[in-house]
Amino acid sequence: MSWNRTHTCGELTLNNRGEDVILNGWISTRRDLGGLIFIDLRDRYGITQIVFDETNKELHSQAEQLRNEFAIGVKGKVLQRDKETINPEMKTGEVEVEVTELRVYSKAETPPFEIKDGIATNEETRLRYRYLDLRRNDIQKNLLLRSSLYHTIRTFYHDRFFAEVETPVLMRSTPEGARDYLVPSRVNAGKFFALPQSPQTYKQLLMVSGFDRYFQIVKCFRDEDLRADRQPEFTQVDVEMSFIDEEVIYSTHEELMALLWKKHLGIEIPTPFKRLTYKEALERYGSDKPDLRFGLQINDLSDIVADSDFKIFQSTVKNGGRVVSITIPGQGALGRGALDRLTDKAISQTGAGGMIFMKHYEGEITCSVGKFLSDETMKSMAEKSGAGDGDLVLILAGPAPDVYEQMGALRLIAGKDFDLIDESKTEFLWVTDFPLFEWSREDLRYYSLHHPFTAPNANGVDLLDESPEKVNARAYDLVLNGSEIGGGSIRIHDTELQQKVFGILGIDKEEAQNKFGFLLDAFRYGAPPHGGIALGLDRIVMLMAGAQSLRDVIAFPKNQKAQSLMDNSPDFVDENQLKELHISLRKSALSES
Ligand code: AMO
Repeated sequence: MSWNRTHTCGELTLNNRGEDVILNGWISTRRDLGGLIFIDLRDRYGITQIVFDETNKELHSQAEQLRNEFAIGVKGKVLQRDKETINPEMKTGEVEVEVTELRVYSKAETPPFEIKDGIATNEETRLRYRYLDLRRNDIQKNLLLRSSLYHTIRTFYHDRFFAEVETPVLMRSTPEGARDYLVPSRVNAGKFFALPQSPQTYKQLLMVSGFDRYFQIVKCFRDEDLRADRQPEFTQVDVEMSFIDEEVIYSTHEELMALLWKKHLGIEIPTPFKRLTYKEALERYGSDKPDLRFGLQINDLSDIVADSDFKIFQSTVKNGGRVVSITIPGQGALGRGALDRLTDKAISQTGAGGMIFMKHYEGEITCSVGKFLSDETMKSMAEKSGAGDGDLVLILAGPAPDVYEQMGALRLIAGKDFDLIDESKTEFLWVTDFPLFEWSREDLRYYSLHHPFTAPNANGVDLLDESPEKVNARAYDLVLNGSEIGGGSIRIHDTELQQKVFGILGIDKEEAQNKFGFLLDAFRYGAPPHGGIALGLDRIVMLMAGAQSLRDVIAFPKNQKAQSLMDNSPDFVDENQLKELHISLRKSALSES
């Protein structure tokens, strides 16, 4: 006799009353009322109440032995529940299954934590027993959302004639700004593959090959410091298109985002999305990924205070720095203690040297450095800050662009502390016109802000020789509620220009040929103009699911130390294995272990 289920645990309703059914699942809870034993049977689809009554003594005594998380099968009849036990919250809440046969597939030891939503178990334990953590409804919901997103995303691109192509996982290193994970080659002594930080070069080569439109849902690997929104192994929706400009990338991906939000969250997203240049984003919000769910835009007070008697304002502006403010509505009466705490946070969390505040209260304007400022100046400062009666103005002074970034961080702190962020909003934004290079004060060299394959703006090519730092890139980021969920660019498709950019990055001709010769050569055989984008799928799922960490949307994530606690990786390997790979460990590696 078959024990294949006839229904899932999330399926039965009054329409099935009287039917004989077979259910399989895990015991979620068990209530023993003496004569009657009630069990909530759980599978990924839901929970169904099953009942053992006393009429079948043997079955009833078997049910007494059941415990949470046993995997069982039951046969029985669907009955209507007594009125007082109906659970209107559950789809199956009006019925129960009266069990006639029981099969215990597997017993379970007492789990290290309760399989329940919202448990306060420490994350280490959850990660160690990830297979049990994944039984919880809220995390299953996230992974099932992720599963349906794959489907929608794939269909979206296929419907638009994108070819899905797999690119190698064992490859030559592609510079994306992080460290590589390396893989030694046994048959090529002393040589290493790198795991892809992204399939950037391959997707460009596919354009040279004429694929025209490519996408891939692909694992990328970056050995970088981890945060809640960064994993060493993460998933990109990687896209490249030929014969297009930025507008095609924007409109295609606005359409995709609107579809995802509509189909999976029932939220209508207006398009086109807002756009800010990198410069505007920095000067107005102090960030290249501004959260537009709240205001607190940055105001520049430099011109007003340049000639004031306050030395810090004077010298900051004289040395090319800026004096900037944000205005917090309705907090003009904030007390001394609260202001001190805010100042402490500004100093410890934003890197600002100090914070100045101004209160507009009951018709009077006061300032923490008011004795150096005329009433006229303070009035103009309040005006420029858009501060009316009852408002509080926070001011920072310092060199640019640092002071903007500090103010951007303070803006986020104030947004959270004063509860100004409208969580119900979904604010997409394109940030455009990034600088092509950034100068590293530590390494005294230029780095690509995106990656070295990004094309300069047409009017920037002439500046490349004299002032590379002034050249803007045809690069864009997609930002959602203050998170960078995607980034891309129009690429260089010309060998000479690509070589020039490598040169500015300190990669000479020989090294360029050695590392990227295949790409430079490919550009010599009719390379189409092309560009693309990569979306951070994990971040998108996290934001759609309202999760706090990428770990809640990845089945088997790494912890903050880039370890998998469940299977204890990374781990040491046999001496023989190392030998085969022509590797010997340094003493320091052995002593650290
Ligand atoms: P970029 O480096 O901006 O671009 O990466 C694209 C997007 O991937 C996500 N992301 C991450 N998500 C989780 N953990 C990480 N460690 C991590 N790093 C990046 C972000 C980011 O916006 N080849 C280019 C794309 C292109 O130019 O087409 C690239 O990889 O959401």
